[in-house]
Amino acid sequence: MSAAIQAALGAPRFEALPPLALYIHIPWCLKKCPYCDFNSHERRGEVPEARYVAALMTDLEFALPSIWGRRIVSVFFGGGTPSLFSAGAIDSILAGVRARVPLLPDAEVTLEANPGTFEREKFAAFKAAGINRLSLGVQSFDARFLAALGRVHDEHEARAAAHAAIEIFGNVNLDLMYALPGQTLSDARADTSAALGFAPPHLSFYHLTLEPNTLFHRHPPVLPDDELCADIEDLVDTGLASAGYVHYETSAHARAGFECRHNMNYWRFGDYLGIGAGAHSKISFASRVVRQVRYKSPQQYLEQAERGAPLVEEHEVMRADIGFEFMLNALRLADGVPVGLFQERTGFPLTLVEKELEEAEKRGLLERDHVTFRASPLGRRFLNDLQAIFLPRERAARNVPKKIVAFDHERR
Ligand SMILES: C[S@@+](CC[C@H](N)C(=O)[O-])C[C@H]1O[C@@H](n2cnc3c(N)ncnc32)[C@H](O)[C@@H]1O
Ligand code: SF4
Repeated sequence: MSAAIQAALGAPRFEALPPLALYIHIPWCLKKCPYCDFNSHERRGEVPEARYVAALMTDLEFALPSIWGRRIVSVFFGGGTPSLFSAGAIDSILAGVRARVPLLPDAEVTLEANPGTFEREKFAAFKAAGINRLSLGVQSFDARFLAALGRVHDEHEARAAAHAAIEIFGNVNLDLMYALPGQTLSDARADTSAALGFAPPHLSFYHLTLEPNTLFHRHPPVLPDDELCADIEDLVDTGLASAGYVHYETSAHARAGFECRHNMNYWRFGDYLGIGAGAHSKISFASRVVRQVRYKSPQQYLEQAERGAPLVEEHEVMRADIGFEFMLNALRLADGVPVGLFQERTGFPLTLVEKELEEAEKRGLLERDHVTFRASPLGRRFLNDLQAIFLPRERAARNVPKKIVAFDHERR
């Protein structure tokens, strides 16, 4: 059957499957932060580490038939707070992964760490276990904002952890947030230069958002207004650009060659297998694309994974949705993507979204030539409006999201 006939029937067709990444979710934290809507749970007593490691392995074995013969290009331990686990547990997980699926020899293997769990020896042991990139949740270097955010660490721990991370791993990301309660332009300047003082290869700056089902949503703190937020964004951009960082994705800045490979795979609509409580997956087969979600509550996940049934939901991605899902991710990238990537990663020709591309161009939100397409400077500023153009009509009618969130690792 020709690609055109298959596409007309509504099924994708892949010449080659997209690269496959592995996400491993660790759902516990020392304390739940008041702004956080991730699947993270305050630890009560000891975390059931050994039981969770075993459940992850049963989960991976359950998933093996759906990724048979494929190689893993990157691994990301996210949370929650993966650094809460012992280095021995991380070592067992990685050894278990290697024994079950081929992992590229130079695969990027990232672990998220919280400065509140920082111990120098532990960082070194994570490295010995095979972690080659550390992502540190600093949020701010200022005691006032760390307190306002309810963080477990103070500014001294933030600095000590950042210093040790750079020394031990080299390949480090620092997560910072801006638009913090009461933050001024000069506060943001101080945080930016404190972060730059460590010269990390990668910096993520997230705009603090008030997410439903969080304490901050119920009791909102006073936040900087839109004008101040825009000024802070300009300040961060200019400061980082003059220090040699490229703002390559909505929230991510990196020195050349240090873009996060794992996240790039999400944004370029690659495949990912997510194991662990609440983890999401997108897996392509020759003529269909499937999304899966695992049980969210750690207790329920443990029980279900142990029974070899970790999935709470599985569905095929429909033709009507796949163009939107591709654009949602790809438009976050400053350089955009090659036009051919659409067909390569969705299994459908670019004509599937031609009308929407034309509208986005007409409104000055998108730029394209024969080689690539990307959000224009206006489109980057009003990214939600640009992404909304690609929202399937019936989905838009059902529920127009106020803020569109891409399927990146942070929301899984
Ligand atoms: C899952 S957390 C991982 C790191 C670790 N749990 C920690 O917080 O140190 C990933 C990052 O998302 C960002 N984040 C979490 N909640 C956010 C919110 N409501 N608005 C903006 N960024 C947020 C923070 O910068 C955080 O470091
Ligand atoms: S922000 Fe990080 S440390 Fe805080 S609750 Fe969320 S996942 Fe845990």
